Amino acid sequence: MKAKIHAPTPANLRRLAAVLRRGGLVAIPTETVYGLAAHALDAKACRAIFRAKGRPANDPLIVHVLDLAHAEELAKFNAAARQVALRFWPGPLTVVLPKKSCVPGIVTSGGPTVALRAPAHPLARKLLALAQVPLAAPSANPFSYISPTTAVHVQQGLGGKIGHILDGGSCTVGVESTVLDLTHPARPRILRPGAITAAQLEKVLERKVFTKNRSTKSSVRLLAPGMLERHYSPRTPLRLTPRPVGTNQQNALIFLRQPAGKSPAHVYWLSKRGALDEIARNLYRVLREADAGGHREIQLEKLPATAGGLAAALNDRMKRAAVKL
Ligand code: TXA
Ligand code: MG
Repeated sequence: MKAKIHAPTPANLRRLAAVLRRGGLVAIPTETVYGLAAHALDAKACRAIFRAKGRPANDPLIVHVLDLAHAEELAKFNAAARQVALRFWPGPLTVVLPKKSCVPGIVTSGGPTVALRAPAHPLARKLLALAQVPLAAPSANPFSYISPTTAVHVQQGLGGKIGHILDGGSCTVGVESTVLDLTHPARPRILRPGAITAAQLEKVLERKVFTKNRSTKSSVRLLAPGMLERHYSPRTPLRLTPRPVGTNQQNALIFLRQPAGKSPAHVYWLSKRGALDEIARNLYRVLREADAGGHREIQLEKLPATAGGLAAALNDRMKRAAVKL
């Protein structure tokens, strides 16, 4: 099988929605990263996601819906969850809540909760509207590799395993959604930082939002099976450093902002002037390019400690990309 990249024409969208309705897999663009989508209420279709990604069955899937009304069919919402959904959906926020019985166990890895998000990408929304079913979709990459932010990235990673990729251009956010556990609304907890920050959530919820501490590998596994330490990783060993240095091809140097003057081929950068949203948008693409560059090591410049906003999400992904096997 060689995945076909489909242009987002109305006819293709109708065809791909039909593929999803009858239990097939389609990689779809979202504003964060590309997702590998399947009919979320079709256990067999969801099993195929795990197979294609090589994802362990104990790592639950995010279910994508159009809006809060559709989400309430799948999970037991509380007032706090409604507040954040009304404020941040459609957008890069995933909420974890007690699931309703219609959600198959394969989606939640047998657990009592389900992760839900209404994506903002117009093509994801069109497909959801046409398919008229919720779509389970983890990032469309082989398990533990760097998430895809273009249709070509998906094809490079999963092209041999799936039939269809919907082309929606480059993702505008570039890192995965914030995952917020609201199973205990008095104690909201961020399981994975993303573009929606703890400060933004605290403002809406008017209470403290906790952040899961990065504990040891084994306890992370028990807490939330998907939150594995090593993730989003290139194959080339990666090191985080305040100042990448090296004059030859053996070391890829990735800077936060474009260095002055003409750069040799082993020098990469994530933004023109250091803007965090631009760094987020480019991070995975540049990591992939550096990984394909035939270097012995990748040195990635650390963010300054003072950076706010997206910095929590970026630090999280950069640290995990650097975790050794
Ligand atoms: O931005 C995103 O969230 C992208 C796009 C495609 O929507 N999706 C994504 O999915 O990043 P995935 O599967 O790569 O990451 C989902 C994360 C995993 O770490 C998983 O463990 C966690 O969400 N998760 C899913 N269901 C959960 C649950 N019931 N409880 C706790 N964590 C859950
Ligand atoms: Mg992922």
